[in-house]
Amino acid sequence: MVYWGMTTKEQLLSYLKKEMGNWVSGESLSNKLAISRAAVWKHIGKLKADGYIIESSPKKGYLLSKISDLLLPAEITEGLDTKIFGKENIVYLNEIDSTNIKAKELAVMGAPEGTVVIAEKQTKGRGRRGRSWFSPSGDGIYASLILRPAMSPIELPRITLMTAVAVSEALLSLTQLKIRIKWPNDILVNGKKIAGILTEISTEMDEVDYIIVGLGLNVNTPYESFPEEIRDEASSISMEMGRHFPRAPIVREYLRWYEKYYEMFKKRGFEPIMHRWKELADIAGEQIMVDVLGEKYVGEVLDVGNDGVLLLMDKEGTTHRIFSGDVQIMGARP
Ligand code: BTN
Repeated sequence: MVYWGMTTKEQLLSYLKKEMGNWVSGESLSNKLAISRAAVWKHIGKLKADGYIIESSPKKGYLLSKISDLLLPAEITEGLDTKIFGKENIVYLNEIDSTNIKAKELAVMGAPEGTVVIAEKQTKGRGRRGRSWFSPSGDGIYASLILRPAMSPIELPRITLMTAVAVSEALLSLTQLKIRIKWPNDILVNGKKIAGILTEISTEMDEVDYIIVGLGLNVNTPYESFPEEIRDEASSISMEMGRHFPRAPIVREYLRWYEKYYEMFKKRGFEPIMHRWKELADIAGEQIMVDVLGEKYVGEVLDVGNDGVLLLMDKEGTTHRIFSGDVQIMGARP
């Protein structure tokens, strides 16, 4: 273990984690960290305030019995092997209006690509098409990434599709859930939405200045806490799995997959990502209704193009190219 660059509090946590479930004497901690026992006690207090459950005994010392369930940067980055995402810069907030808004402010001030803004709670969580995103404290993941790709703004829908793939891969590698993408970027389990993505862009001339990719994921949200109007169409990981699920490993896995697909996008283009998106969306041949700002289209999905556009054939045989909308799946395929 290399302690270079770690704060005293982080080093202390690292020792306690290595001995998780065992007592560690205050004296040995004070020797290892080269601080007084009173200072050890002070840092223990800070760790407790961060949500770590630490028992103390005047005779035996300290025992870490439970890791914090907060989305603390130290928990997210533990074992994270990315080069860009979450590596240098995780901005952790207890409460914010919207992580997308905060990320935008930071991007304007020059925050580098890979910056992650994460909050325990959003007071004005934003969804697609001017909707709000239900963001209760401690239950979900509300995270925004800053990207600065050298690409044309017209590629933005691809970034959104790529994000849906990265989220799905992260969930598939951590859970047994049957994840499905609903065009363009909803993540469903058993037909209910557990996550949504909001991408926002700033351009200069015809180049991307920055892109903000916001992810909202319902992790431990119980059924009864969802607002009534979305209660029957939304779900959470804990509802689907029947147990509480730790959030930090999901963020870590998401950042890992994000980087993998982002690198793939830059090196090999969008085709392999689109291929995976189609596997995960499994939408071709489906009978759907799409609501495009109040105008409704009903028909069969022919395909989703490499530009993310949905090709829908209505019953007259006319093909519509749909750029954005709300999809409702009408029924099982024949
Ligand atoms: C959707 O409507 O499906 C997209 C929801 C996106 C919500 C996330 S939560 C983190 C980020 N900050 C926001 O205000 N919105 C996005």
